Amino acid sequence: MTADAMRRPSLDVARLDALAPALRIEVLEEATSTNAVAAQRARDGAPEGLLVVAEHQTAGRGRLDRSWATPPRSALLFSLVLRPTVPAADWPWLPLLTGHTVAKTLRGAGYDAGVKWPNDVLLAGADGESKKIVGILVERVDTPTGPAAVIGIGLNVSLTPEELPVPTATSLAIAAGHDPDRTAVLIDLASALVEAYDAWQAGGEEARDRLASSYAAACVTVGREVRVELPAGDSLLGRATGVDRSGRLVVTGPTGQTAVGAGDVVHVRATDQ
Ligand code: BTN
Repeated sequence: MTADAMRRPSLDVARLDALAPALRIEVLEEATSTNAVAAQRARDGAPEGLLVVAEHQTAGRGRLDRSWATPPRSALLFSLVLRPTVPAADWPWLPLLTGHTVAKTLRGAGYDAGVKWPNDVLLAGADGESKKIVGILVERVDTPTGPAAVIGIGLNVSLTPEELPVPTATSLAIAAGHDPDRTAVLIDLASALVEAYDAWQAGGEEARDRLASSYAAACVTVGREVRVELPAGDSLLGRATGVDRSGRLVVTGPTGQTAVGAGDVVHVRATDQ
């Protein structure tokens, strides 16, 4: 790692013991992608609860085949191996559960965070524009002992305005005006995730209904005019009117209602359309 990268403090690995025994933590100075490492560990038999954390990624992956890059030690980059036992039809809720939980945890820490469907976490700016602070990539992995899920989270912590990958991104440091303690934020996020996931897994249909209504109430996309850029290249315009039983965004437009399972949502003002 270069001297410039070393100017930022590393994670305090000893304090991460607070996450045991629910989680087993592996901290890497550098990884290609924590999702790739966690997926390999899952294929090699890692049980639910392995948390792979990296100080830097050389090939970080984003949704829709994009890349995800942050300067060393400037972000929280981690992936959790899960082996859900809920019905397969409920797996699409994992990304939404994750985004919802991360947004709630950041709100609890005083940030004005919200989740944009499906799982981008945004911070509201003073100018009314929201900017992306967390990206989440959930992947299903086939393993010899059954399917696993890898929940990958990238949170911009101490990035400066010059280091942001795009002008529509932000960091905790930019929002708070000081560098937060990355170790403390990681402990809060990982504990909240474990708690929310366990409640969702153990709570049966009632817990799944609770998540559906609490997500729809909190999602900043619902009620907005949106343009959804679909994976096939076309786009859909309309008002986001809800989230269906499968976690798909329901968009109501001139031709009726469409439920969208994957795509990039842009919140638009009526005049931008
Ligand atoms: C997105 O918004 O496109 C999702 C970005 C997900 C990035 C995180 S960083 C940790 C984990 N490892 C990866 O390679 N990707 C996820």
